[in-house]
Amino acid sequence: MALAARLADAGYEVIAGSRSLERAEAAVVELRATWGDRVSRLVPATNETAAVEGEIVVLATQWEGLVDTARQHAEALAGKVVVSMANALVKQGRQFAAIIPEGGSLSVQVAAVAPGARVVAAYQHLPARELGDLAVDMHGDVLVCGDDAAAVETVCEMTARMPRLRPVGAGPLVNAAGVEALTAVLLTVNVRHKIHSMLEIVGLP
Ligand SMILES: NC(=O)c1ccc[n+]([C@@H]2O[C@H](COP(=O)([O-])OP(=O)(O)OC[C@H]3O[C@@H](n4cnc5c(N)ncnc54)[C@H](OP(=O)(O)O)[C@@H]3O)[C@@H](O)[C@H]2O)c1
Repeated sequence: MALAARLADAGYEVIAGSRSLERAEAAVVELRATWGDRVSRLVPATNETAAVEGEIVVLATQWEGLVDTARQHAEALAGKVVVSMANALVKQGRQFAAIIPEGGSLSVQVAAVAPGARVVAAYQHLPARELGDLAVDMHGDVLVCGDDAAAVETVCEMTARMPRLRPVGAGPLVNAAGVEALTAVLLTVNVRHKIHSMLEIVGLP
């Protein structure tokens, strides 16, 4: 819901999906109570409705359910830009360890189970608390990977609509393996140093 709120705040009409309409409604009520008109473009729905009606579909489930969710909605996702933002990882005490999924990446698995979808990997490494807090002026780069150049461009444009987030094309979808695994590294650094890190690629114009 954090990205949904950011995108609604950036001017997008956002359908906030859930496996349960009641849970989606409750989440949207809570976001409206916190952010008021800033999230007025956010409407609750089931995942089915979001998959059918959304032009760009962001898969933002807990990582364990990501691939099954993509498989379940594969027909509706065919032909659409589908953003994969989950990371497979496990918390081990005060550190996070990446889990390397079969095929190297969850995003690659999503593309395999939803063959018509134009899958793009993005947003994995953004810190959750800041993303969900619209009062925070998030500043940094967003690595974007995908095999469909037009779909990557669409996600880059969407990212750039969120103030001070800069999209950075990072190659084919298989490169999402590196981004997903890197997130476990960044989360570990965050815990150790009590920070909420953002990426910034030095040297870009
Ligand atoms: N939050 C962020 O800022 C952020 C930043 C970077 C990456 N990510 C990644 O984006 C994803 C979403 O983040 P989040 O913070 O919104 O996660 P979350 O609150 O933990 O989970 C999002 C939703 O996933 C659904 N879900 C849980 N288990 C599922 C399953 N087995 N199958 C299908 N759906 C399931 C639940 O919705 P329903 O029960 O209502 O269906 C839950 O509310 C995560 O994978 C996270 O790693 C998040």
